[in-house]
Amino acid sequence: MSQVKGKLVQWVDARFPLFDFWRNHMSGYYAPKNFNIWYFFGSLALLVLVNQLLSGIWLAMSYIPSAEHAFDSVEYIMRDVNFGWLIRYLHSTGASAFFIVIYLHMLRSLLYGSHKRPRELVWIFGMLLYVLLMAEAFMGYLLPWGQMSYWAAQVITSLFGAIPYVGDALATWIRGDYTISGVTLGRFYAIHVVLIPILIIGFVLFHLTALHKVGSNNPDGTEIKKHRDENGHPKDGVPFHPYYTVKDLMGAAVFLILFLAIVFFMPEFGGYFLEHANFQPANPLVTPEHIAPVWYMTPYYAILRAVPDKLLGVLSMFFAIFVWFLLPWLDRSKVRSIRYRGIFTKIALTLFVISFVSLGYLGLISPTPMGTFMARVFAIIYFAYFLLMPIYTKYEKTKPVPERVT
Ligand code: HEM
Repeated sequence: MSQVKGKLVQWVDARFPLFDFWRNHMSGYYAPKNFNIWYFFGSLALLVLVNQLLSGIWLAMSYIPSAEHAFDSVEYIMRDVNFGWLIRYLHSTGASAFFIVIYLHMLRSLLYGSHKRPRELVWIFGMLLYVLLMAEAFMGYLLPWGQMSYWAAQVITSLFGAIPYVGDALATWIRGDYTISGVTLGRFYAIHVVLIPILIIGFVLFHLTALHKVGSNNPDGTEIKKHRDENGHPKDGVPFHPYYTVKDLMGAAVFLILFLAIVFFMPEFGGYFLEHANFQPANPLVTPEHIAPVWYMTPYYAILRAVPDKLLGVLSMFFAIFVWFLLPWLDRSKVRSIRYRGIFTKIALTLFVISFVSLGYLGLISPTPMGTFMARVFAIIYFAYFLLMPIYTKYEKTKPVPERVT
């Protein structure tokens, strides 16, 4: 049997670099041996991506992208298609799970300085993925054609109207109509199921290729390639397969237990994953009492609402997203990991996380004078975290980094 397998491997190897690929990226890729639970979220992001692609393909088989039939076709999937309810809840819960996983994946980078040299491109490709994911989620949210689908899309597309001179024309061009209509639904559907998924898959490949070119960072922020054994392998590394394939399987199992518990027992998640207003069909004549995006976009929505001027609000919101791209160059610290950084980075990161979560909450609730005041305070902390970073990371006192992983 093993002889036949050996021959088959040789035959394929001579014609296609399948096994080279396996060696380069799995069995021969040395990853630091001190990965902790923060390192589960990359492989979990891949798992959720596969879930979204598969459940999305099955949804597309029964969904109808027209203003007349979209809402009814989703109800048809929920009630009449075999296991349609499961396919839809896997997809809708998957969207929120994707952002939970991605936010923790990004926080890991902030903790261990994974964005720093030489992993700038890993970070940039990651950020492009984040922006693509937000675009994908925004367009997907229009498809069920419920009240919140309709009005959230109306609010967000009309933001472009704040741009001087070209704004209104641009908003009309994006919608393909003067308001959100069946034309908008058709184009959002095409972009949601074809264009953005292709881009996401492409950028995931770029993200991982860039990572494997420079090698993974680790919780100590040391370079494991500096110390090699007689075979040239990093002394502080272990082959990704089988060590981390097995470890990641354990992470996937724990994740699936939590994920499926939500899918089966609380798919609406109290109105946070599927909003109550979206169980009513879109009605262009009736505005819902309170319009808010889904939770994963609300930190930026709170920043938008915190600024009194519409154009400045829109600019602040886009800048709040864009500033993440600059992180590798804003961070001037001599060390990567939070373990060896000074007190200022620790305080700044803690305040930033509190602000981000609080902005997310404030963006979900109806605006009040107190809420708006708090949103302004948190927005200032949010921007200060990034814009003061070159100063506090450069001048704070850091601890010595060990030569080898601890
Ligand atoms: C579809 C979305 C994404 C997928 C599938 C994905 C996947 C992965 C995987 C599998 C790894 C290697 C395992 C690990 O280190 O956890 C990784 C590493 C990394 N990712 Fe992502 N990622 C995504 C989005 C992002 C985003 C949005 C960012 C940040 C802006 C990001 C930043 C990073 C960084 C800096 C590393 C290297 C970490 C290190 O070596 O310490 N990724 N990603």
